[in-house]
Amino acid sequence: MAAPDTRAVHAGRADLRGLGVHVPPIDLSTTNPLPGVEAGGDSYEALATGGTLPDGGSAVYQRLWNPTTARFEEALAELEGCAQAVAFASGMAALSACLLAAGGHVVAVRPLYGGTDHVLATGLLGTEVSWARPDEVAAAIRPDTSLVIVETPANPTLELVDLDALAAQCGDVPLLVDNTFATPVLQQPVRHGATLVLHSATKYLGGHGDVLAGVVATNAAWATKLRGVRALTGGILHPLGAYLLHRGLQTLPLRVRHQSDSAGKLAAWLGTRPEVERVYYPGLPECDPHQLIGRQQTAPGSVLAFSLRGGYAEAARVADSCRLITHAVSLGGVDSLIQHPASLTHRPVAPEARPHPNVLRLSVGLEDVDDLMADLGQALSGE
Ligand SMILES: Cc1ncc(COP(=O)(O)O)c(C=O)c1O
Repeated sequence: MAAPDTRAVHAGRADLRGLGVHVPPIDLSTTNPLPGVEAGGDSYEALATGGTLPDGGSAVYQRLWNPTTARFEEALAELEGCAQAVAFASGMAALSACLLAAGGHVVAVRPLYGGTDHVLATGLLGTEVSWARPDEVAAAIRPDTSLVIVETPANPTLELVDLDALAAQCGDVPLLVDNTFATPVLQQPVRHGATLVLHSATKYLGGHGDVLAGVVATNAAWATKLRGVRALTGGILHPLGAYLLHRGLQTLPLRVRHQSDSAGKLAAWLGTRPEVERVYYPGLPECDPHQLIGRQQTAPGSVLAFSLRGGYAEAARVADSCRLITHAVSLGGVDSLIQHPASLTHRPVAPEARPHPNVLRLSVGLEDVDDLMADLGQALSGE
């Protein structure tokens, strides 16, 4: 099998030469001609119940199937080492489909992205949640537990969770790993026992801040369930977004490795700054007590967090003082973003699990690292 970087460039493109094109075509059809009433009905039946496009069948209607979206799914599944993937209009739509398909009781390991924490805490989608520390998951599992949910590295303070150890505790209960921060370039959770690998594709997979999307890579049985939920609830990813994501995958390994290198330099430098109380970054030994970098995750990634000695007021001042780095939510793009999790992404999280108000989260982009250091330096010193 070709090396991962080669697959990132070529996945989901095997048929292009035969089609006589160099880049994937975009199919924007919302509806598709039916070969006949019987055959059309058969295609509808297959797709509406979560199947894949039958040979020679009709895609029927875009909410059920779209070839451009399916191409991106094929490519992402290959990079994650999974049989299939199912793409959604956002990461939250992807998570919602997983929760609707699972139902019942869910065990979740905090910290999690604020939206994930919120939808679980409210029980909006009919699930009941038990929060557990990574080593308490086995004890939290009940006979009706349908899913265990974890992020590693976790948003926003980059905690790492040992997936092999966690999967061993899960037994038969499927483990969902949010792999948004690591991407398949740095970590493939199915190799460590995960059944479902979720991405906010809005972040690194797209990489340019211009696509809102989510995707779940998994086995064929779960993919069928998720497509069934997607067909009914209408959360499919639009083909233009899928095209951009598929293109984004081609540069994903280069972007992720370069951004991770820069983040490592910035994390080390931030640790020397008198204004900074603590740096949270998986590449720092104190943030990786189980030595998962190198074993589970090939590099630390390019999101880091840091706390300010001056508390909330100082964190707010630093976020507002950055000039090159944009003060904005989101992460994983080519440009660097800084944000204040406690008042923004993690605002809905219960106070006991909310990040400290003196913490800022930084997503390191592709700018020259010296320029990023200079910008953070002027913001920290306030000169
Ligand atoms: C780790 C993680 N998971 C899921 C989501 C939700 O994704 P989206 O914003 O694409 O709905 C986010 C968004 O920030 C995230 O950071």
